[in-house]
Amino acid sequence: MRVPLLDLSEQYRVLADPIRAQLDEVLASQSFILGPKVAAFEEAIRGYCGAPHAIGVSSGTDALLALLMALEIGPGAAVITSAYSFFATAGCIARVGATPVLIDINPETYNICPAALERFLTESCRRGEDGSLCTRAGETIRAILPVHLFGLCCEMNAIHQISEFFQIDVIEDAAQAIGAEYPFGGATAKAGTMSEAGCFSFYPSKNLGAAGDAGMVLCRDEALAQRLRVCRQHGMEPRYYHHFIGGNFRLDEIQAAILAVKMPFLDGWSAARRAVADFYREEFTRVGLTSHLSIPVEPYRERGLTNHHIYHQYVIRTPRRDSLREHLTRKEIGTAIYYPLGLHEQECFSYLGYNEGDFPETERAAQETLALPMYPELSHEAQRYVAEAVSEFFA
Ligand SMILES: Cc1ncc(COP(=O)(O)O)c(C=O)c1O
Repeated sequence: MRVPLLDLSEQYRVLADPIRAQLDEVLASQSFILGPKVAAFEEAIRGYCGAPHAIGVSSGTDALLALLMALEIGPGAAVITSAYSFFATAGCIARVGATPVLIDINPETYNICPAALERFLTESCRRGEDGSLCTRAGETIRAILPVHLFGLCCEMNAIHQISEFFQIDVIEDAAQAIGAEYPFGGATAKAGTMSEAGCFSFYPSKNLGAAGDAGMVLCRDEALAQRLRVCRQHGMEPRYYHHFIGGNFRLDEIQAAILAVKMPFLDGWSAARRAVADFYREEFTRVGLTSHLSIPVEPYRERGLTNHHIYHQYVIRTPRRDSLREHLTRKEIGTAIYYPLGLHEQECFSYLGYNEGDFPETERAAQETLALPMYPELSHEAQRYVAEAVSEFFA
């Protein structure tokens, strides 16, 4: 039996008619960029997440880039983030001329470790002459950028406690976590709304995926929202008058229209992903595999949250990862490694001066983690086949 890591064809089969109708409507309107479909989709995401402002952009990468540019983060600044993330998180910090400062992860959640963050700020930073917090190299720490990896929110209460103590802004990389909930203070908050601003990706493989690239920034502050709207059009306002340097970060009507068709299904899809995760967990536990491999933790499940995890990826870990992967490949089961290197190990970041061993949990995760097939339409038969193939390997 062939089981791909992800298969979007069933989702399209169900939604093909309304999606085609939307395509026809956009094509008939000949309005392709930043029109009514973008405005409607922004409003849908804004309302769903409970954020004051939503600005549609061209990708998750551009959401991060536009946000950093709008915040005027650049040379001389540092932004703290996780050592274990997709490249774009640190890549965008570097692209605006700032320095990515990396922090190790919690080995259970794969998200930035608040204790390591606090240790870094306490032991490796100092107050500059103007009172701002600086790295040893003298860069001003402008923001902490936690990444809600695989669809599980970071420990935002602890992160905010630290950020408030050190008076640093927080912005979220929620690219993989749309709809994920967190017990924030006494309330429930969604990923991307627990700080000054949050970024989403609607890359096709995301829980809410476009038919191409798309992204969004959520933010609290009206002035920042306005700056982002201007930033996504080359810093232009009014036409051909440029106040600052932005970029072409515009979201197009076709992507927004398709995403708006899919949007009402998002929570159902995330619930279906959780059901797949429940099945994997029950099976791996039932056959006694949990002494051989680690399965995803669900730290917020008991808090009564619906979307306590949205399982953008279902990631297990074992020191025998590579041979398990080969075994599953032989069984025609798709898997992936997110990610084979920590960000500090990427060649392009060698100038940051990190060494092997600097982030041991990140390095171990990069060696041991493996994503298994996960999508809402994954059949029971396929789930069972995957679980049996994993058990067979460890038998
Ligand atoms: C954590 C993270 N940040 C940023 C991005 C960038 O998003 P995009 O691919 O839409 O540019 C991704 C996308 O994969 C991501 O996973």
